Amino acid sequence: MAVQTVASTTDSVDLGPAAALSCRECGHRVPLGPVFACEECFGPLEIAYDFSGYDTEELRKRIEAGPANIWRYAPLLPVPADVAGKPNLNPGWTKLVKADNLARELGVTGGLYVKDDSGNPTHSFKDRVVAQALEAARVFGFTTLSCSSTGNLAGAVGAAAARAGFHSCVFIPHDLEQGKVVMAAIYGGDLVGIEGNYDDVNRFCSELIGDPAGEGWGFVNVNLRPYYAEGSKTLAYEIAEQLGWRLPDQIVVPIASGSQLTKIDKGLQELIRLGLVEDKPYKIFGAQAEGCSPVSTAFKAGHDVVRPQKPDTIAKSLAIGNPADGPYVLDIARRTGGAVEDVTDEQIVDAIKLLARTEGIFAETAGGVTVGVTRKLVESGVLDPAKTTVVLNTGDGLKTLDAVAGTGLTATIRPNLDSFREAGLV
Ligand SMILES: Cc1ncc(COP(=O)(O)O)c(C=O)c1O
Ligand SMILES: [Zn+2]
Repeated sequence: MAVQTVASTTDSVDLGPAAALSCRECGHRVPLGPVFACEECFGPLEIAYDFSGYDTEELRKRIEAGPANIWRYAPLLPVPADVAGKPNLNPGWTKLVKADNLARELGVTGGLYVKDDSGNPTHSFKDRVVAQALEAARVFGFTTLSCSSTGNLAGAVGAAAARAGFHSCVFIPHDLEQGKVVMAAIYGGDLVGIEGNYDDVNRFCSELIGDPAGEGWGFVNVNLRPYYAEGSKTLAYEIAEQLGWRLPDQIVVPIASGSQLTKIDKGLQELIRLGLVEDKPYKIFGAQAEGCSPVSTAFKAGHDVVRPQKPDTIAKSLAIGNPADGPYVLDIARRTGGAVEDVTDEQIVDAIKLLARTEGIFAETAGGVTVGVTRKLVESGVLDPAKTTVVLNTGDGLKTLDAVAGTGLTATIRPNLDSFREAGLV
C-alpha cells in the first residue's frame, strides 16, 4: 500500500493503491491531497496508481470473494484496505439486465444489456462517486460534505453524509424536479437553491471554496473531484465482471460533465492492463439531450473544443452547458470509434416509456436519453446491432415524474362488474 504525505499537512494518508495525483494535461505529479488543478498548467488532476505487484488470478479471486458492492474493487480504488468496515452507503453491484424485449424492438441481435444503476441507495449512479469522495474526505479530515449538483448528486451527498455523521450543505439550481429536491432534503442536511442554472451553481461553489465561508469543506465534485471521479470506474468493472470478465463491444453512456464516461474508459483500460479481461476493441458512445448538447454538437462538427450552451431540456440531471470533461469525452469517442449523439425531449419521453414497457425498468430522463440515443444510433447504422451492447440507466424515474405526466389510469369505474365491462378492457 502506498503511503503519501499531503503537501499541506504533516499527516500521511493511506489511500490504498493510489500513489499520487497526476495532471491529465502535462503529467505533473503531486502528492495525494484535496487539490484538483495542476499548479503548472491548471489542468485537471486525476489519481495515478501503483498496481505493480498484483497477480491477475489472485486479484480476480479477491474481487470475486469481496462484498456485493463497489468495495469488492477496493484494490483498484483510492481507498484504504479497511474501507468496507466504515459507515458508508456501500453502493454498487447493481443489476446488469439482459434486455431481450428491448433488443427485439430495436433490432439488436448481438445481446443488449441495461446496467440499471437506479438500484443504488439513493437511486442514481452518483452514490458510487460520493462513496469515494466520502472516504477521501475522511482521510483529509473534512467534516462537511458539499457539492454543486443537477439533483442526483445532492441526494447522494445528503444521504452519505447522514450515514457517516458528516454535516452537509449542497447547492442546486432552484427549479429542479420535486423528486430531486425532496430526495436531497430528506436526509437533514442543508439544501440551498441558487437562482440560476447548474453552471451558475458550479461557479458559485468555486467562489465559495476560496472564501473563509467554505473553508474546511469537502466539495465532492470540486476539491475532492479526483477521488470522486474514480467511483465511476466501478461501473466499468461491474459490467465486465457481470459479463463473465468480458468487455462489451459497445457502451452507451449519458453525459453531463462527462466525468462518468471518461472514467468508464479508464476502468476498462485498467482491466485490460491488469489482464482481467481480454484486450479487444470496444466503442464508447456518449448520449445527450438536444436541449443541452455541447459535446454532441462539437463531435458532429469535428471540433476539439466544446462551446458552452444554455441548457433547455427535461433531462435536468444532464443539463450542464459547460462540461468540464467535454474535450476528453470527444477524444474517447473518437479513439474508440464511438460517437456522441443527442435526442429531443419527445424522444426522451418515448424512450422512458419504451424501456418501461419492454423491460419493466422505470428510468429517469437520463435513462431516456441513453435508450433514445441507442435507438437513434441503431437506426442510423452507427451502432452495430450484431455486437454486444450495454446501455446505462443511471437514475430512477420516480424522481422525474413530471417528464411522463399524463401517464395514468386506463379507466375509472364504479366498483361493480358491469362498470368494468363497460370500460372495454376485456
Ligand atoms: C442520472 C445521471 N446520469 C448521468 C449523469 C452524468 O454525469 P457526469 O457529470 O459524470 O457526466 C448525471 C449527472 O448529474 C446524472 O445525474
Ligand atoms: Zn499540468
